[in-house]
Amino acid sequence: MSGVVRFSVSLEPDLLERFDQLCKQEKLATRSEAVRQLIREKLTDHEWASDATDATATLTIVYDHHRSTLMEKLLEVQHRHAEMVVSSMHVHLDHDHCLEVIVLRGQASRLQQMAAELKGLKGIHQGHLVLARASQEQHALIHSHSQTHSH
Ligand code: NI
Repeated sequence: MSGVVRFSVSLEPDLLERFDQLCKQEKLATRSEAVRQLIREKLTDHEWASDATDATATLTIVYDHHRSTLMEKLLEVQHRHAEMVVSSMHVHLDHDHCLEVIVLRGQASRLQQMAAELKGLKGIHQGHLVLARASQEQHALIHSHSQTHSH
């Protein structure tokens, strides 16, 4: 880590106690680590809300592959939005279930729409969309890259 800034925080004792309990449950090594994670999560939420144009995310879905036409529909949606699909990985969980991790890149709201469409298909057991946010510097690089190339 290149240079950190220390700052102090004032909060009510009972709030701190609850926070420490949470850190213990989540097995976070230090309060600093916990606060860093919270801040990052908050910034990521903000990124979603501000509808960033170069959001990168993973969509993890678990489904029953015996469900008729589900596989077809999954592929149809991904092909329809091919420009947002970077890559996908398929894992056969057991006799009936498959896990798929799809890496997406594009405008935050469009990624969310596509994820909602996929998660809403009949036969999907679980679906989780996670936005990955690069650091501010990397973020700036991606921006300038997309300006020089029209994709
Ligand atoms: Ni499978």
